[in-house]
Amino acid sequence: MKTATVSNHAQMSPPTTNKHLIRWVEKMAELCQPESIYWVDGSKAEYDRLCQELVDGGTFIKLNQKLWPGCFYARSAPNDVARVEDRTFICSLSKDNAGPTNNWEDPFVMRRKLKELFRGAMRGRTMYVLPFSMGPVGSPMSQIGVQLTDSPYVVVNMRIMARIGKAVFAEIDKDEKRVVPCMHTVGAPLEPGQEDVPWPCNDEKYIVHFPETREIWSYGSGYGGNALLGKKCFALRIASNIARDEGWMAEHMLILGVESPTKEKTYVAAAFPSACGKTNFAMMIPPAGFDGWKVWTVGDDIAWIKPDANGQLHAINPEAGFFGVAPGTSPKTNPNAMATLSKNTIFTNVALTPEGGVWWEGMTEAPPEELLDWRGNRWTPEIGKTTGQPAAHPNGRFTAPASQCPSIDPSWEDPNGVPISAVIFGGRRSTTMPLVYQAFNWSGGVYMGATMGSETTAAAAGATGKVRRDPMAMLPFCGYHMGDYFRHWLKMQRSLSATPRVFHVNWFRKDASGKFLWPGYSDNMRVLKWIVDRVRGRAQGKETPIGWTPHFEDINWAGLKITRERLKELFDELQTVDRAAWRREVMDHEELFLALHDHLPPEMIYERELLICRL
Ligand code: GTP
Ligand code: SPV
Ligand code: MN
Repeated sequence: MKTATVSNHAQMSPPTTNKHLIRWVEKMAELCQPESIYWVDGSKAEYDRLCQELVDGGTFIKLNQKLWPGCFYARSAPNDVARVEDRTFICSLSKDNAGPTNNWEDPFVMRRKLKELFRGAMRGRTMYVLPFSMGPVGSPMSQIGVQLTDSPYVVVNMRIMARIGKAVFAEIDKDEKRVVPCMHTVGAPLEPGQEDVPWPCNDEKYIVHFPETREIWSYGSGYGGNALLGKKCFALRIASNIARDEGWMAEHMLILGVESPTKEKTYVAAAFPSACGKTNFAMMIPPAGFDGWKVWTVGDDIAWIKPDANGQLHAINPEAGFFGVAPGTSPKTNPNAMATLSKNTIFTNVALTPEGGVWWEGMTEAPPEELLDWRGNRWTPEIGKTTGQPAAHPNGRFTAPASQCPSIDPSWEDPNGVPISAVIFGGRRSTTMPLVYQAFNWSGGVYMGATMGSETTAAAAGATGKVRRDPMAMLPFCGYHMGDYFRHWLKMQRSLSATPRVFHVNWFRKDASGKFLWPGYSDNMRVLKWIVDRVRGRAQGKETPIGWTPHFEDINWAGLKITRERLKELFDELQTVDRAAWRREVMDHEELFLALHDHLPPEMIYERELLICRL
């Protein structure tokens, strides 16, 4: 093994006094055999330097700085474009703790496998020591990790997505909080003289979590949730384990604040599966007819929710940036996102314009005449039509600082979080699920979340458009047995003085011809206002077999340019509860419950029985 690590190490003295950390870094360097070790300070100067190195190495293209100041463009390898759920493992001591919805491997066997994979995996590369805080540095709700990675692309993305660097080393040196070790390699060592590729990665991928020892090992991918380990791996899979032990919740949820014309503020958290509308809902601008209403953004993907001393739930967004789906984002659908990503943003797997700008499907009404697609091939609307290939990958994303969002909530970095009054579940369902309904109570709400279904999207590798059960939008992210997770949700009620109201929404119901029935986006405000009004005890509801629904009159329809008659028809179609379809739906719930049966809380069975009786 080369000793370059040690000499380099000596050159750069570690900016921490934590002996554990220093020893761990040395041990991991011995295993991975990087050419050098670099301790990340998190400064702007360092970020600029790394971005320039990525440009020099061919990973980044610097965009036209007049059009896109501070922005860079990257194309991943075609076999590294999304999370790989079938390569994601929860290696708890017992298989039973991972449950049937997670891949499991014996931790002893997996560690041996990982040792093999990581041995020499960083040869010819720099190992970055990247300390990060999920949540504002120093917040009582924050958690700390250190990611060792051989990907500078990951380092610069993490600088946007999390709080990193010096301030976090200082936190670690206080020695007050447990630090989660996160190992990451793209799995593409360089032999002497071997030329690098723009997007190094490996065909073989392993995204591994050890819940008991709170460790993450990720091999072979440089993309998104596979590689930015603070995000899904830590803030959801590991954090869900910590949260269960400590009595709080780590959820795949956006957080937003609704301000009324009288300046009353109501915060809600919403769980929609991957690529099902969280970012868009969190940044929504109310439509015409909602004068004085405003939506404020706290987070768009992950919420850590904890009861305070008075039994009120408070939530923080553990992230500092948005890793958002690009396709579909436009000045019409999401002007706040467009403003957020207008500068200092990293674009991955979207299309490149001849002017050195970016484009993706849905960004403008008509596509530019000519582009380079996400693979780097020439693309024209004509070529697109004949090949059926989009210019941007459907999971092409932007990495943008949350602080740049025009609707960012003044309290978004409040160390104590914001009070949560409602929980909203939602999926992508072309049939069966109405636009909105409210659960009768907390356990009914837990059942509602537990049995959620959604059509699969490009956010994960594999087929898209297939309905699958995705409980609380956490199917790929719950780090332990799903049945125990439901129990934890039920149990939370006991530490609460007021439980949040629980709702289900569906923006994606289609008509017979396959067109979306609901305009969505800013019009979702109409549904959100009813939710807020229900929470505040102001709005009527109609009792149905599945829960409370709004009457036509309970919704503010102002500003819609459709006749009242047509609107009423549309509303009735959107709100239809088809008993036959719901019977099939309940049979599908049974499928999930069968898989989870030996850990399923009895409340779920009771709720199912009640639902069946009402149907
Ligand atoms: P992750 O980051 O993967 O967790 O996704 P997300 O839940 O934040 O999804 P996002 O808001 O990025 O939306 C994904 C896709 O759904 C985008 O292409 C959006 O344009 C589209 N979308 C969002 N909201 C709506 C809506 O109300 N109606 C319709 N029809 N499409 C929507
Ligand atoms: C998701 O898939 O839910 C995402 C994107 O938010 S990733 O970070 O890649 O998981
Ligand atoms: Mn997500």
